[in-house]
Amino acid sequence: MTTASNARFNAEALSWDSNPDVQLATTLAHKAYLSRLPPAATLATYNVLDLGCGTGLLSLALAPSVRSVTAVDAAEGMIAALESKLGASASSKSNRNVSAVCALLQDPDDARLATDPATATTKPGRRFDLVVSHLVLHHIPDLPALFRTMHGCLAPGGRVMVTDFEDFGPAARTFHPEARMAGVERHGIDRAQIRSVLEEAGFGDVKVETAFEMEKKVETEPGSGVMGPVVMFPFLICEGTRGG
Ligand SMILES: C[S@@+](CC[C@H](N)C(=O)[O-])C[C@H]1O[C@@H](n2cnc3c(N)ncnc32)[C@H](O)[C@@H]1O
Repeated sequence: MTTASNARFNAEALSWDSNPDVQLATTLAHKAYLSRLPPAATLATYNVLDLGCGTGLLSLALAPSVRSVTAVDAAEGMIAALESKLGASASSKSNRNVSAVCALLQDPDDARLATDPATATTKPGRRFDLVVSHLVLHHIPDLPALFRTMHGCLAPGGRVMVTDFEDFGPAARTFHPEARMAGVERHGIDRAQIRSVLEEAGFGDVKVETAFEMEKKVETEPGSGVMGPVVMFPFLICEGTRGG
């Protein structure tokens, strides 16, 4: 992630949750993950890593269904917003299995991943049953490196599930208003390219499919700042398994 990207996410952290598009995209992504994950009894044993968790919208949605969530983000502002939610609900049992970690994750052996949120015990080289990441890929300069990191974070047999909007042609650029292009590395995810990235990172059983479609208002003219026309954006879910 670039410095421009980090500055942007720190600036946007406080207002992040008040964006209805962000909320809707998370709700739809959460549904897409649950419909592809194993039944509740198995899912309840999962330790999950949410890479680029932002303010923890997806982490907190998944938390009641899984054993633990390690929610990682490089932007201190995003992590502060998540920590305040966790603090505010310290008495709520459902959030006691979530840890917020401020890190630009590049190394599966990063010591900041070593603490189990459910027990607070530390085990160097801790691995996960599931890595999720939502609306992050289009900000990543080096996708192969990110997927190698995700692969390394998984236990044998563990699964990656990543959602982001698809590069479906020139209109994909309108996903972001022109004034909010800082840190945008690509206008959506290319199906064929992401499949090769996952395969080259070592994942098996790779699937790339449409997870959902979401309507979003876009600028009347590029750079006008006036939102008007509605565009339907397809979102991909990209999945792969780490071999045993
Ligand atoms: C568009 S935001 C999405 C946040 C959240 N997933 C959501 O949907 O609300 C992308 C986030 O990814 C984070 N990010 C990007 N690369 C990262 C990395 N290598 N490690 C940790 N966080 C990263 C950024 O700091 C930013 O908060």
